[in-house]
Amino acid sequence: MINPAIDLLLTRRSVSANSLDEPGPTPAEIELMLRAASRVPDHKKLVPWRFVLFQGKAREAFGKVLVKVCAVEEKDPGAFRLENEAKRFLRAPLVIAVISRVVKNPAAPEWEQMLSAGAACQNLILAAAALGYGAQWITEWYGYSNGVRKALALADNERIAGFVYVGTAKEKPDERERPALADIVTSWRP
Ligand SMILES: Cc1cc2nc3c(=O)[nH]c(=O)nc-3n(C[C@H](O)[C@H](O)[C@H](O)COP(=O)(O)O)c2cc1C
Repeated sequence: MINPAIDLLLTRRSVSANSLDEPGPTPAEIELMLRAASRVPDHKKLVPWRFVLFQGKAREAFGKVLVKVCAVEEKDPGAFRLENEAKRFLRAPLVIAVISRVVKNPAAPEWEQMLSAGAACQNLILAAAALGYGAQWITEWYGYSNGVRKALALADNERIAGFVYVGTAKEKPDERERPALADIVTSWRP
């Protein structure tokens, strides 16, 4: 091990939502994850993100919302699809919706505020991994659905950056190929 933080960064893998199980993080661990997520770089201290937690029975209740929205937004989704929507948030003990919220600020353009929300998602999955949990940052269809936006009562300046699923990994994911640095790194020369 080079050092625990670098080791975590170099070995972290997402665990697919379907491979997550109980137990989920404790309330104290969830607080640590949220504290890590809320200290990402944030130009002008705008706090351009917020978090919505889905746990316990709320996950099943949100499944009912997904079924309703899916039935309206998808053409003829079919019974199998709707059954899956009902169970979607039950795949993990904890789902955290990360909501990006942008405001007009000449010093910190919207792009920077959205990047900060992405960093909050990443800190959540890193903190989950550091605490020994598996996590996956996903958007799927409901991250872009108007019906789901309404159900979550998002304001006009808000957008879903992702849903972070957290739980205990049923199995360790295989390593995934990563880009060769030689393909993505250059040194600028005048
Ligand atoms: C903004 C964003 C949205 C994503 N949405 C999905 C998704 O809907 N479904 C999915 O399978 N993976 C999605 N991913 C990819 C996973 O988070 C993850 O990167 C992937 O499972 C590969 O694992 P790794 O993190 O170990 O590379 C998304 C990633 C990002 C950054």
